[in-house]
Amino acid sequence: MNPIAANVATAFTAAYQHTPQLYFSPGRINLIGEHVDYNDGFVLPAAINKGVYYAVAANTSGLINISALDYNEQISIPFSDINKTSGWRNYVLSVVNEFLLLHKNIGGFDCIFSGDIPIGSGMSSSAAVEGGLAFALNEIFNAGLSRKELALLCQRAEHNFPNMKCGIMDQYANLQGKKDNVILLDCKTIEHQYYPLLLGEYIIVLINSNVHHELVTGEYNLRRKWSGDGLNILKNNAGVQSFRDKDIAGKLETCKASMSSEEYNCCKYVIEEIARTQLAVELLAQNNLRAFGQLMNATHLGLSKLYTVSCKELDFLADYAATHEAVLGSRMMGGGFGGCTINIVRKDSTAQFIEAISAAYLQQFNIKAEAYIVETSNGVEKIAP
Ligand code: GLA
Repeated sequence: MNPIAANVATAFTAAYQHTPQLYFSPGRINLIGEHVDYNDGFVLPAAINKGVYYAVAANTSGLINISALDYNEQISIPFSDINKTSGWRNYVLSVVNEFLLLHKNIGGFDCIFSGDIPIGSGMSSSAAVEGGLAFALNEIFNAGLSRKELALLCQRAEHNFPNMKCGIMDQYANLQGKKDNVILLDCKTIEHQYYPLLLGEYIIVLINSNVHHELVTGEYNLRRKWSGDGLNILKNNAGVQSFRDKDIAGKLETCKASMSSEEYNCCKYVIEEIARTQLAVELLAQNNLRAFGQLMNATHLGLSKLYTVSCKELDFLADYAATHEAVLGSRMMGGGFGGCTINIVRKDSTAQFIEAISAAYLQQFNIKAEAYIVETSNGVEKIAP
């Protein structure tokens, strides 16, 4: 058994003297389609083999007992005390709260979790925390929600107590992931298709900048507002329905004068990224990884210059990688302002690439980068008993 899972199981039995159900809840990568999941776009994420392990069982005390092993912190509260709070508690309690808002009959439970996703790395530890608990409660208390409904519940949970107005990508990938596949998710219809991730002589390497700039939630919500306000101007002034309309790029130009520069740039990025993602899926199906990588590089540029969610450390990592002969594509991944870049790297040069980029990064910023070679995995699943 995975050592973290074993640890969680042992800690559970020691703390609560009964046997839990064990679950694995994955983090995610996203190949392309960034910051468009809340803009009617398409995204191409996959669940990965890094995530959060949960041990959960119903109890007879009627209390919510949750212990976050990695923080060495716990809560023990009655349902009547569920409220917005801070840190990891906000994520788990918000999930329980969403079940209550649906009038699902959730009883007291004991729960311990621990994981191996570095916080703020852009691999969505928050969705892994939410999805693992939601899946476990759904199963243990027979709440009858589908994986899709659970993903939507977790998204609402993240909007609610943590006040992060995220799109649906992370929660969806966490619950609907499929090993060896990426998910093409249409964020307008919330329908998906799987595409086999056939990388041949290439692999996916994440480089963690190990920086996590403050105010990410506020900045994220602001981008959401700028693109949303921009879309409203397009709707009111040019009869646009969504960022997917035909001739949308031309209509954006006709509305430019009515927009702030932030609104215009965000809309421009979104329109371009939706087109890039659609093209990228075709290229992946044709196994044209080289052209796919070029699109990833273009995404980074857009995120950095138009959507302004990058930072100097991520720009450095993406620029460095883009000029490395073994790298097909590189870009910042996830919400931004720190965290990881995602890179498609030739297998035989991976060690050399990691060494070179880490040395250059250390020299530039005096920060140690970390590298992770990630594999795809299934969405949340029970691993024992
Ligand atoms: C965060 C959010 C997602 C998505 C990405 C950016 O991870 O949780 O919904 O918007 O940022 O693509």
